[in-house]
Amino acid sequence: MTQSESGTLAVQKLFKEKFGYTPTHTIKAPGRLELLGNHTDYNEGLVMSLAVDKYLFIAASPRTDGKIELVSTAFPERELFSISELKKNPQAPWADYVKGVLDQLRKHGVQFSGFSAAIHGTVPMGAGMSSSAALEVVTAMTIRKLFPFILTETASRKPARGEEDAEVTRDEKLQLAKLCQKAENQFVGVQCGILDQISSLFGKSFHAIEIDCQSLSVEHVPMIGEIAILICNSGVKHSLVGGEYNELREMCESAARKMGVKALRSVDIRMLNASRDKLTEREFQCAYHVVGEIQRVIAGATALRSDDFVQFGQFMFQSHESSRDYFKNSTKELDLLVELARKHPGILGARLTGGGFGGATINLIKRDAIESFSEYMAAEYQKSTGIQMSPLLCQIVDGAA
Ligand code: GLA
Repeated sequence: MTQSESGTLAVQKLFKEKFGYTPTHTIKAPGRLELLGNHTDYNEGLVMSLAVDKYLFIAASPRTDGKIELVSTAFPERELFSISELKKNPQAPWADYVKGVLDQLRKHGVQFSGFSAAIHGTVPMGAGMSSSAALEVVTAMTIRKLFPFILTETASRKPARGEEDAEVTRDEKLQLAKLCQKAENQFVGVQCGILDQISSLFGKSFHAIEIDCQSLSVEHVPMIGEIAILICNSGVKHSLVGGEYNELREMCESAARKMGVKALRSVDIRMLNASRDKLTEREFQCAYHVVGEIQRVIAGATALRSDDFVQFGQFMFQSHESSRDYFKNSTKELDLLVELARKHPGILGARLTGGGFGGATINLIKRDAIESFSEYMAAEYQKSTGIQMSPLLCQIVDGAA
C-alpha cells in the first residue's frame, strides 16, 4: 500500500469513528521540500522545491446546522464553531490554518455552509516540510469540492456546467496558492512567502518545481536518475509562529529599502558590495545570503537540466554553508547532519530545508546508497547527540490538484 492509500484509509476511519458515518469526500495535499533557494521567495527570488509523498488528508461531509466541526489524529481536542465565527482559539492553534483559509475564501465571495471534517497528516510536524501549507491547501481544495467555486484574481464564481470536474487550471492554482499564503500571513500571523503553497499545488512526480517568485512563473525540471531524496529530521522542533522568521524577513526588506529597490531580487553582488556602508552588518549578511542563493538556483537549474546531480549537490552544500554562516538560520544539529552526510560516499548534496532554526536536512544521494546512508546517519547522529533519528525516504509526487 502506498503512503497516500494508507493515509486515505486512516482519515476515513477517523471520520467514521468520530462522526458515525462515511465521509462524502476525501482530499489530500502534499508537503514540500525546499530543494535549493533558502528564504528567497519573499525576496521575489528564485527557488526550487519538490512535492513529496507525505500528505495532509481531509475526509469531509457537508452538514446543515451551520456549524463546522474539526477532528484530527494529531490533536485530541475537537474544534466546533459556527460558520459566522471564524476566530482564533488558543486551545486549538492547529485549527487556525483551516479557519484562516475559510476566512480568505469568504473574503473572495466563496459561499460555504457547515461541514464536518477529519484531518490526518503524514507530513512530519516541525521538520520544515510545510505541514501548515499542506493543511491550508487541502482545506481550500476540500471546500472547492464540497461547495464548488472557481477562484479568480479578485473574487470567485460558480463553475459553469461541466467545469466542476475539470482539472484546476494553472491560473486558478496560482490564485489558490496566493489565497492560502494570505491566510497564513493575515490569520496565523506568519509572514511566509509563497513557496510552500505553490509547491503543494504545482508538484509533479519525478520533477523539481522551479518558481520565479517575482513573475510567479512555475516550471518543472525533470529529476530522473539513479538518485534518491532522504530527509534527516534533527528532532529539534521549530515553529515559524515564533518571531525569528518574521525578523529575518524584516532584515531583508530593510536591506532592500536602504538600497532603493523593492526586493533583493533586483540586487546583484556588485551592487550589494557597493552599498555595504548603507547597511548594518546583519542586513548585509542576510542580503548576501539571499543574493547568493538566487544565483545558486539559476546555476542549479542548469545543472539539473543536464542531469548533473554531482554539480547540483555542490550547490546544495554551498547553500547550507550560506544559511549557516550568513543568514544564521541553521542549528548545531542541522550543521552536524550536513557534516555527517558529507562524509558518506553515497552523498551528492545536503542542506537544511525550509525556514530553519531546527527541522530537517534534505539529502540528495545515490540511489544504491539508501540503506547504507540511512544506517550510517542514524548511528552517527545518535552517537553525537543521543537523539534517535531514522532518515525518511521521500518520493516526488504530483500536487494537490
Ligand atoms: C518557510 C516559509 C517559506 C520560505 C521558507 C524558506 O518554509 O513558509 O515561504 O520562506 O521558509 O525558504
